[in-house]
Amino acid sequence: MTLSIKLISLVYLVAAALFIFGLKGLTHPASARRGNVYAMIAMLLAIVATLFHPAVKHYGFIVAGLCGGAVIGTIIALRIRMTAMPQLVAALHSFVGFAAVLVALGAYLNHATRNAASQLLLTELFVGSVIGALTATGSAVAFGKLQTLLPGRPILLPQRHLVHLFMALVVVALGIDFVIYGHFAALLLASCIALVLGVMLILPIGGADMPVVVSLLNSYSGWAAAATGFTLGNHLLIIVGAIVGFSGGILSYIMSRAMNRSIVSIMLGGFGAGSAASNTPLAQAADQHIHAAAVEDAVFLLSNASKVIIVPGYGMAVAQAQHALKELSEILGHKGIDVQFAIHPVAGRMPGHMNVLLAEADVPYEQVAEMEDINPEFARADVVLIIGANDVTNPAARTDASSPIYGMPILEVGKAKHIFFIKRSMKPGYSGVENLLFQNENCSLVFGDAKSVCEQMATELKTAA
Ligand code: TAP
Repeated sequence: MTLSIKLISLVYLVAAALFIFGLKGLTHPASARRGNVYAMIAMLLAIVATLFHPAVKHYGFIVAGLCGGAVIGTIIALRIRMTAMPQLVAALHSFVGFAAVLVALGAYLNHATRNAASQLLLTELFVGSVIGALTATGSAVAFGKLQTLLPGRPILLPQRHLVHLFMALVVVALGIDFVIYGHFAALLLASCIALVLGVMLILPIGGADMPVVVSLLNSYSGWAAAATGFTLGNHLLIIVGAIVGFSGGILSYIMSRAMNRSIVSIMLGGFGAGSAASNTPLAQAADQHIHAAAVEDAVFLLSNASKVIIVPGYGMAVAQAQHALKELSEILGHKGIDVQFAIHPVAGRMPGHMNVLLAEADVPYEQVAEMEDINPEFARADVVLIIGANDVTNPAARTDASSPIYGMPILEVGKAKHIFFIKRSMKPGYSGVENLLFQNENCSLVFGDAKSVCEQMATELKTAA
């Protein structure tokens, strides 16, 4: 049974709209599940409509591919750890890239035997195959680095920029030859060079910069899919490919700005190797395998918590964040969340420093607890929010006998389910000692000035359903 092309186009249009709604849903943690559902329905519609396309003559390979893919996909989805998501995404981008190369080669052979390849089609084939090849091997190397199968440090080959430039020029020359004369060998050779170039562009990039690279490869995989859509005359693939291409490109730009990189230098594989590699808090945190989180991530967990403990420290005093913090705690309280403030005896720079500031902001006394009383409560807390406190939470005081703060009692925040640590940089606190808490799986750093982060959180929480 086949469906008419008109009906299939209509289904594709609905699927494209659902993909866009899906992407919109993914822009906020609160709507992310709904966004995923839209995208899943869109994918289902796209697959079913394609199965009934008149061009499909035999179902043998298609059903085998669908079943194999469904089994492998289900096993991976069930087994994957959240921390391994980046490498999974990189591997999936690699598959998109290889698929684009194979579709381009197959489409050329198909059209060439019928002498039906126009110059426009040859251009689409060439672009799709070259971008696909770059994506395929680039993503494979990114996967290897993230999975620690390859060294995470930058691998710097001598004269690599010149070599990259030479290879790119050869690819362009082969492209001109292919579009004018239709030589299949030119397409094959250019695709092989692009495969090698994909490896060479990602090798010089250090592990800390991989998130930007994966996002960039995501964008490439979108463009490869869009080019494949042109080749196959498939509108849905063109639309979805362009959405992925643009959104991945914008995300890469935002991430590169946040990490103080130039997007052009990322695309040329020339960053991550210099001395400027770790000059932002985010990059430094990534270098040390420390989790950094966005305000939205913290707000999502805060709004879903039943018990929240806030730990103020010297940073709250510096930022004068006590009023913003009070407002944040009130919003949480209105949502039915149990909020307490934990005071360490030497938090801040003078005795009673935190108590004074919280009293100034009219935080009710019954919400404020001293260390001995609050320590047993941390194990029951869903979220601990640390506002510019550092030394008073450092587990080195208990575990590292060589540490200058060894023996100092601390707030036992590590027992909570999630810890969000607001500070501006990776600098240590008063004692100059690195905080071992940052290495905890349940601890994420939210970089920024305490007052402005608290205000952002309050605004986000008000808008969260
Ligand atoms: P600290 O350990 O000194 O840490 C304060 C943290 O606040 C730093 O990590 C800093 O990181 C962050 N910070 C500073 N300004 C900020 C801002 N505007 N926004 C966000 N974060 C900001 O403070 P603590 O945890 O309260 O511990 C107090 C320390 O001071 C103890 O070592 C204690 O022994 C010592 N001390 C206490 C007293 C008394 S009596 N309370 C007296 C003298 C010394 P970034 O720079 O990265 O933002």
